[in-house]
Formats: sequence, C-alpha cells, structure tokens
Amino acid sequence: MSGTRTDVLIAMVLVGAAAHAAGPAVTTGTPEGARSYYRALSKEFRLNTDGLTLQGLLDYLGYPIPAERLEALPSDVLMHPLECDGGLCLPPTLMGARLREGDILASRFFAPKIVNVSAATPAPGWRKLVRLRTHPDSPAARAGIQAAIILFNFIAPVDRDPFAGHSPNTQVMLIAPTHPKYVYWLDFHGLDVDGGSLSLALNQSFDAVSFPDGGTVDYFVPDGCNACHGSPGNRTPPMVNYLDTDHWFDRLTDDFAAVADAGLPLLFDAQTNDTGTVAYARAFDVIRQINEEALAQNQVVHLDSFEARAAQKWLSIHERDDAHQPPVARGFSSDGGPSWSGAEASGLALLNRYCFRCHGSVQFSVFDRPSVVVRAGDMRQRVTPGKVQLRISGFRMPPDRVLPANEAAALDQFLKNVK
Ligand code: HEC
Ligand code: HEC
Repeated sequence: MSGTRTDVLIAMVLVGAAAHAAGPAVTTGTPEGARSYYRALSKEFRLNTDGLTLQGLLDYLGYPIPAERLEALPSDVLMHPLECDGGLCLPPTLMGARLREGDILASRFFAPKIVNVSAATPAPGWRKLVRLRTHPDSPAARAGIQAAIILFNFIAPVDRDPFAGHSPNTQVMLIAPTHPKYVYWLDFHGLDVDGGSLSLALNQSFDAVSFPDGGTVDYFVPDGCNACHGSPGNRTPPMVNYLDTDHWFDRLTDDFAAVADAGLPLLFDAQTNDTGTVAYARAFDVIRQINEEALAQNQVVHLDSFEARAAQKWLSIHERDDAHQPPVARGFSSDGGPSWSGAEASGLALLNRYCFRCHGSVQFSVFDRPSVVVRAGDMRQRVTPGKVQLRISGFRMPPDRVLPANEAAALDQFLKNVK
C-alpha cells in the first residue's frame, strides 16, 4: 500500500517537473544576483565597478599596460615586460616596487572546454591566461588582492591565427587570500564593445541541448562561476582550476581532428606539438607554474577536494616529464580503492570525451575511479533517460550535446560493468 503511495508521489513530482521545459544543468545565476555581487565587490575592494573596463582593472592592479596589448602580445613578450623592442617597455619599478621575474605569467593554449560541441563542425577554442601579481602599493594590493588571473577566450577556424581577433568575453579572478571568499569574479565584454566594459555574465554552450539558437545562455557571476569553481554545492571559498594539458592532446583524436590536421600547436607559445623540444619545455613549464599555484590555492581552501587531488596528480605525472599522458595514467582514487586500469581505457575515453568538460570540476572528477563507481547507476539513467526524466531540468547528461546512440550504448555497457 505504502509502496503504491510512494509511486504515486514520485509520479506527481516527475509530472510537476515535466510541466517546465527542461532547463540547464549548470547553475546560471541571475542578473540581479550579479549586480548586487558587483556592488558588494566595489565596497569590499574599493574598486568602482560602475563603468569599469578591462583597462580600468589593469590600472587598479598597478599595471600600466594597454588592454589591447595584453590581449594581443605573445606570452614571452608579456613575461619580459622591461624589454622595449616591440615589448611592453615598462619601467623597472611600478608603484615603488621592482618588477620581478614571475610577476607576470602568461600562456596561450587550446581550450576544448569552451567549444560548442553540439555544432555539426565545432570551431576550436583557444585561451590566453595572464596572471598578474599585484605590487605592494597598488590600489588592488592595498585592498588585499594578491594577484589577478585574466582569461581571454578565442574561437577561430583552423586556417586562421587563433589569437588574431578579440576575445568576445574575458573572465577574471581576483585572488584575495585574506578576504572571506578568497576568489572573486569579474567578467568583461570584448574590447570592441565599449572598450571591454564590465559584463554580468559569461555566455556559453554548457547546456546547448536545452536551448535553441546555437544553444548558448548566460552564466552570471558569481553563481554561474561557482558552479564549476566551487563544486560540490557552491563551496566557499571557490577554487582555481588546474589546466589539463593531457586532455587537450586526447581531444585531437575525437572532436578536434581538424586541429591536428592543421598542425596547430596546443601549447601555442611552444609553436610545436613535439613534447621533446626546448620550445615545448619552456611553454610547458609556464603551465607547470600556473598549476602549482592552483594546487597551492586548492590545498589552502579545500585540502581533501577532488579538485586538489586532480591538480596534484597532474603535477606528479609531470614532475619531470612533459610528454602527453593517456587518460589511464591520470586516474586517481579519493578513497584508496583501485584507480583506472588499462582494461578500462576505452570506457574511460568516453567519460573523458563526453563528461570531463564539467566533471573535472563539477561534483566529481571522471578520473577519480571510486567516484564514478558509486554513481554508475545514476550515470546510466542520465545517459539514457526515460521520457519523463528527459523533461527534468538538468537531468540528462551530457547537457551540452546529444550523444550518438552507439556512444550512449557503449557508455551504458561500460558503466553497467564497472565495480
Ligand atoms: C562549466 C564549468 C565552468 C564554468 C561555468 C566557469 N568556469 Fe572558469 N574554468 C573552468 C575550467 C575547467 C577552467 C580551467 C581552464 C580550462 O580547462 O580551459 C577554468 C578557468 C578559469 C580561469 C583561469 C584560472 C583557473 O581557474 O584555471 C578563470 C579566471 C575563470 N575560469 C573564470 C570564470 C568566471 C569568471 C566564470 C563565471 C562567469 C567561470 N569561470 C565559469 C570551468 C568553468
Ligand atoms: C556541460 C557540463 C556537463 C557535462 C559535459 C556533463 N555533466 Fe553531468 N552534471 C553537470 C551539472 C552542472 C550537474 C549538476 C550538479 C549539481 O547538482 O549542482 C551534473 C550532474 C551529474 C550527475 C548527478 C550528480 C552527482 O554528483 O552524481 C551525474 C551522475 C552526472 N552529471 C553524470 C554525467 C555523465 C555520465 C556525463 C557524460 C556522459 C556528464 N554528466 C556530462 C554538468 C555536466
């Protein structure tokens, strides 16, 4: 009797959910939430966000660098800011402090995670990350900001210089260890829109299956950002995500064969994919530094998080080795149980291709084998949902593309057997 009643209740809940069109899985946040967040941030950091541009932010951080040049110049030019011949030609002291090696870190790289994979032929994505350490007497440093990470995004067809255009959306993280949230968000329009004015949201394709018209939607600061930087459950403080160079190489064999065919260097600053060259080693070491800083931040805020473990794993396999490591070599275990084995490589490859875009930073990492084992049943339901489940917001996985039937079946079979 009670079983029947439960069934009726479940049916009612499902029908209730089905009354709404299926919505996004990734938290979108709201414009009001973003506005009040920026107002609070203005006060907390004495940074007027009204009319703020990327240039205004650079001035506040104590770096007199034209925003266009920060966006356009090659990474090694940015990392040698005193040089004048075609370089930034900054004065040796800024705000009374010497500019030191490492104050500016910059890297340009292939970014499959920003690509709309629901498109028939997805145009590859690229990112340029610039980390600026604030100088002791800059307004930012006086307000407690230790560094800022500026992330430019580029989408370009394979026959063009990926970094030639403007980043349509530039994401920023302020690192302020003495403030309660530690990591704070800003987002800017492209420099061709009001000189790169402040934006409330990142427009992205994470939930492409739920939306028509190209499948993008706005993910507002701070909630949209925290969905992937503070998971599970909007953890505070949020975390810096490590850069997974190995994943970029993996993807050349599936959705991005065109990038391989065009011979585009994934660590763009290396200008080669030959991991045994000096140029590659130099570019790779910049990413190593970026990931060391990510791990340090993760460990301070959430020592036992899967995010920290994943960053740790990347650093340990790349301690002395710059070569591409296959997915199985990147597996780890959060509970001491077995990690992925060679016999599981083809199943792990599916998780890596279709799920890692989010499940390297949302809820769990696909490389953490035990966290996949406990979810295998739930995963199967989400990969091949029933009619009613299909209408539940955020239920169907992945949310960013429709899996081809044979791939869904292969993943289902793999998850059925994983123990
Ligand atoms: C769907 C997941 C996702 C969402 C949503 C997201 N990020 Fe990220 N973010 C990542 C990942 C993963 C990286 C690592 C770079 C990569 O893999 O391309 C990253 C990197 C960054 C970085 C560089 C520093 C770092 O953590 O590596 C900044 C800055 C950043 N994101 C800002 C933002 C802002 C601002 C928002 C919200 C407007 C946001 N992110 C929303 C997943 C996400
Ligand atoms: C574009 C981002 C994205 C991709 C790709 C994606 N997911 Fe998810 N997934 C999410 C989000 C967001 C949630 C909801 C998290 C929450 O509860 O806040 C979620 C939730 C889940 C959950 C339930 C939460 C949990 O902790 O168990 C499972 C299981 C899951 N996803 C499996 C998958 C599988 C399997 C794939 C690949 C076939 C996949 N997802 C691909 C974003 C994604």
